[in-house]
Amino acid sequence: MATKLFLLLILLSHVASSLSEECHPQDKRTLLQIKKELNNPTLLSSWKPHTNCCDSSWYGVICAPSNNRVYSLLIEMNEDLASPFPPSIGNLPYLESLLLYQLPNLTGSIPRSITKLTDLKSLTIKKTGISGPIPNFMAKLKSLTFLDLSENHLSGTLPFNLFHLPNIEAVLLQNNKLTGSIPPSMARLNSLVVDLSHNRFEGDASVFFGFAKKTETIDLSWNMLAFDMGKLEFPESLKHLDVSQNRIYGKLPDGVKNLEWLNVSYNRLCGEIPTGGIMQALDRNSFSHNKCLCGSPLPSCK
Ligand SMILES: *[C@@H]1O[C@H](CO)[C@@H](O)[C@H](O)[C@H]1NC(C)=O
Ligand SMILES: *[C@@H]1O[C@H](CO)[C@@H](O)[C@H](O)[C@H]1NC(C)=O
Repeated sequence: MATKLFLLLILLSHVASSLSEECHPQDKRTLLQIKKELNNPTLLSSWKPHTNCCDSSWYGVICAPSNNRVYSLLIEMNEDLASPFPPSIGNLPYLESLLLYQLPNLTGSIPRSITKLTDLKSLTIKKTGISGPIPNFMAKLKSLTFLDLSENHLSGTLPFNLFHLPNIEAVLLQNNKLTGSIPPSMARLNSLVVDLSHNRFEGDASVFFGFAKKTETIDLSWNMLAFDMGKLEFPESLKHLDVSQNRIYGKLPDGVKNLEWLNVSYNRLCGEIPTGGIMQALDRNSFSHNKCLCGSPLPSCK
């Protein structure tokens, strides 16, 4: 009986060890190289050459159970990590999710090697010291569904081709120093969420609107955009729209009545606020500081 139990235990331990298999040597080499490029931060002291990177002992590393390749990397909330963006991240060919969050001393620009991550679905580089433009080559990340580059020091104009990403659901670029006009090619963007707020964009942003879109949330607030609001076509899906703090003119189109939330304050709009939907239930601050908007919830048009 005891021998049988012993054999069973041996069998079970074999099963267990085959379940938590060793990390792929190529991924381990790459992770150790990334650690080196990041100047060996204390945050990554659990990344040790003679341990298994797939048994959840390595900070921020997750492997896929199916092939034991690294598919998720998450490094966040650390001020000691002071280095340029580690180019070796591009050598994790099975990476699907990369999150670099609140790393104020991660600096430099987004390296071209990132285009090797052809399986990448979710990319977040948020609240870091990353600067320079959003490179054209980002459009090569064809699997991307979620792109969050908000709250960095990115500057320059938007790449004209970024929005050829076929599966993109969210584009979050708020709180950077992005400038210039919105490229007309952005009309092809059909994501659920677009946030370009708190930048320095100019000119026309009507490419984000149109009956055929499936967009639910658009935030363009705190820019220098100037276009005729009266000509916008509102997609039926659109629920949340913030265009406050721009130079937008014209009148409010009837389509605003289908929204669940709206803020058009601090622009150059004119004319009567359409009646219906939640328009009259909104705070008057959603409409204040325009050229000559009138009607409930603002004072009547006379
Ligand atoms: C990281 O940045 C902070 C400011 O955000 C600064 O005070 C600190 O000295 C930096 N640390 C390193 C290691 O560079
Ligand atoms: C609308 O936007 C302005 C400026 O961004 C802001 O001050 C105001 O509080 C917002 N209104 C509401 C109701 O959120």
